[in-house]
Amino acid sequence: MLSALSRVGRTLGNRTSSLQPIAGSIRGLSSLKVESVQAEEHIKYFKIYRWDPDSGKQPYLSTYPVNLNECGPMVLDALIKIKNEQDPTLTFRRSCREGICGSCAMNINGSNTLACLCYIDKGTDASKIYPLPHMYVVKDLVPDMGNFYEQYRSIEPWLHSKDGKAEGQAEFLQTKEDRKKLDGMYECILCACCSTSCPSYWWNADKYLGPAVLMQAYRWIEDSRDDSTRERLEQLDDSFKLYRCHTIMNCSKVCPKHLNPGKAIASIKKRMTELH
Ligand code: SF4
Ligand code: SF4
Ligand code: FES
Repeated sequence: MLSALSRVGRTLGNRTSSLQPIAGSIRGLSSLKVESVQAEEHIKYFKIYRWDPDSGKQPYLSTYPVNLNECGPMVLDALIKIKNEQDPTLTFRRSCREGICGSCAMNINGSNTLACLCYIDKGTDASKIYPLPHMYVVKDLVPDMGNFYEQYRSIEPWLHSKDGKAEGQAEFLQTKEDRKKLDGMYECILCACCSTSCPSYWWNADKYLGPAVLMQAYRWIEDSRDDSTRERLEQLDDSFKLYRCHTIMNCSKVCPKHLNPGKAIASIKKRMTELH
């Protein structure tokens, strides 16, 4: 019995001693790993527009360092990290974080875009983030979208059907060809990146409808199921609502959904010949 126990002891002892170098190298590896993570810290600075109407202070820029090795790849990831870890007062809108809701539209490094679809620029210069330009600001990166939504409402963005559905009719049908005409317009998420990049909209936002709303107006003009095509055209036939567009095309350049509101506006102008 004793000899059997001593055999087991010897075997365990041998195993333990053979594991020691492995344990040592794992310890070595983990300390190496910690060192390399520390060495790889990649600090990026974000300069962010701040304004709180309750503070009585002028707007200013706040600078925040973010270790990109501990942050997701998008500008929205950095904003959320800053808000969670450095400054809970930083205010911005976001919801879907995948380019669907349109709420995280802002001006990043000089261009209007969606923070959730915009990769962080890995360069050494600080990234500058402002609210959408030429809009009233509610707080920090949150613009007042009231006028924009009112303008959208003014074009009555819903189906006008004079006769309504026949009895038993479940849907308003259209041919595949007619449905195709709405492609490139129905995908608009009303983020307002285009309208707020348009110089004409900057100067006349109270009267000019701007590219986003005009493209939605055209989406209903082109819809074969809608019965108010002429009325819709008449409503737009106005030197301010439509004709402030001077085809500068900033709108189509910035659209984060790769739509072409400038082209839709040109199409409305063409359709105006139907009225005269
Ligand atoms: S057209 Fe593009 S930029 Fe303009 S509101 Fe729609 S999705 Fe946004
Ligand atoms: S094309 Fe028209 S709507 Fe688009 S940016 Fe130029 S002026 Fe504005
Ligand atoms: S969070 Fe919805 S579009 Fe960016």
